Amino acid sequence: MSQTSHDRLLIIDFGSQVTQLIARRLRELNVYCEIHPYQNVTMDFVREMAPKAVIFSGGPDSVTREGSPRAPQEIFDYGVPILGICYGQQVMMEQLGGKVEGGKISGGGGTAEFGRAYVAPSVANLDFLDGWFADDSDREQVWMSHGDHVSKLAPGFEVYGTSPNAPYAITADVSRNFYAVQFHPEVHHTPNGAKLYENFVRLAGFSGDWTMGAYREQMIEKIREQVGDKQVICGLSGGVDSSVAAILIHEAIGDQLTCVFVDHGLLRKNEAEEVVAMFRDNYNIKLIHADESDLFLGELDGQSDPETKRKIIGKLFIDVFQKHADTIEGAEFLAQGTLYPDVIESVSFSGGPSVTIKSHHNVGGLPEKMGLKLVEPLRELFKDEVRALGRELGLPQSFIGRHPFPGPGLAIRCPGEITREKLEILREADAIYIDQIRKHGLYDEIWQAFVAILPVRTVGVMGDGRTYDYACALRAVTSVDGMTADYYPFSHEFLGETATRIINEVQGINRCTYDITSKPPGTIEWE
Ligand code: XMP
Repeated sequence: MSQTSHDRLLIIDFGSQVTQLIARRLRELNVYCEIHPYQNVTMDFVREMAPKAVIFSGGPDSVTREGSPRAPQEIFDYGVPILGICYGQQVMMEQLGGKVEGGKISGGGGTAEFGRAYVAPSVANLDFLDGWFADDSDREQVWMSHGDHVSKLAPGFEVYGTSPNAPYAITADVSRNFYAVQFHPEVHHTPNGAKLYENFVRLAGFSGDWTMGAYREQMIEKIREQVGDKQVICGLSGGVDSSVAAILIHEAIGDQLTCVFVDHGLLRKNEAEEVVAMFRDNYNIKLIHADESDLFLGELDGQSDPETKRKIIGKLFIDVFQKHADTIEGAEFLAQGTLYPDVIESVSFSGGPSVTIKSHHNVGGLPEKMGLKLVEPLRELFKDEVRALGRELGLPQSFIGRHPFPGPGLAIRCPGEITREKLEILREADAIYIDQIRKHGLYDEIWQAFVAILPVRTVGVMGDGRTYDYACALRAVTSVDGMTADYYPFSHEFLGETATRIINEVQGINRCTYDITSKPPGTIEWE
């Protein structure tokens, strides 16, 4: 649990797929919130966290099933506003003396409701619904996803909105500030849903004090307290997360921080110079630029199997990081750019409380191995909040908005054997491609764009001569999280102009293709 001094809101997670979206909507309202699985929420926990309001998430279970998830009964007497969503609504009704009827899925025979629905107001003047039903409309689009439904309200509750299949779509006990909705206001398909969260936190008295400026100050204090006069090591990749973490920690403890930037020789054109210039020269951060390209490229020599390449890089990275970290005397802490989505414990119904904590990229098992404690100043933030913090700390937008770049670098964009010659050609082609994308104002619309150099030479004709050079593939995808992706629909003019530039300007490439594979079935990277 965080020790934040801000107004806090507790989200009790009953296992909905979209619980994280509730947190997003609240953070957009400058409200600090934490998601905790229902199994962990005891009244001692609640009292310690001292939330100003509580939200019950949706969930896949049925409250009609014996042993299904509940909130601690005393939470209803704790005296703070509560909002129940879908399963959360049903839990509230059940625990407060109402009744829930099973639908098709839980075997009750009632009507299930999935997808778009329309809610109409049944009683006017509920503060919670202020500005929600548009003036010129008597109904509002919502997203439903429920098998069961409330069949009898708990004492004290009244109905404020109904849909054809959910007679209790919006209910409230105004005297206790309890609100309960059958639909999901947090999802995109409830277009005006954010308004309900806005009204709820207003009614709960939140001041909207969760700002990046306040977070920065609070974190600086916290880092100073945690680290004292000890030394901290930070593995810098040049990506947004580790960069923002490093700058924030540097602001807190100055020269007690040393960054280690492992240069495996698989970076893009000018990347190493830019990272060094940014951190050492601009921010004056102590930085070890570990130029280990000979080591990495030597070990990769002659290797063409994608998994073998990845394993070699992963192992060397850890060895090299550790070697350089060992030179920093008295280091007791390792800084990592772990984000909130990486640490949320999610509710699993397949075997008790499961924990989906991703081990963080390349330095995963290092803290235990090296006996280091962790400093993770971004643990409470979502990705776009990290970007906002980066802006707050003065990082240029060109750095903050950079496309993701994989740990193994250009190695996985160079199918077949990796040679210095091919890497050089690839760097040049990639730089031109990105330059083209920026010039056409497309960079921010694209999740990731890069060139892959193919392990094949093709015949061409330039001037009056024959060429026999490498072919390359351009890749550009749109995505939300990198899990699924679609190719970016460049215009033919853009593709033609870019191919011409690459072939004319890069010695060693005489053919360009555009990769139009989506993910799945492809992956974003070529290896
Ligand atoms: P794929 O190719 O699996 O990539 O569709 C999805 C996203 O993950 C990035 N990626 C990596 N990032 N270490 C990383 O830090 C890796 O080993 C790695 N492999 C892929 C990829 O660039 C894309 O954004």
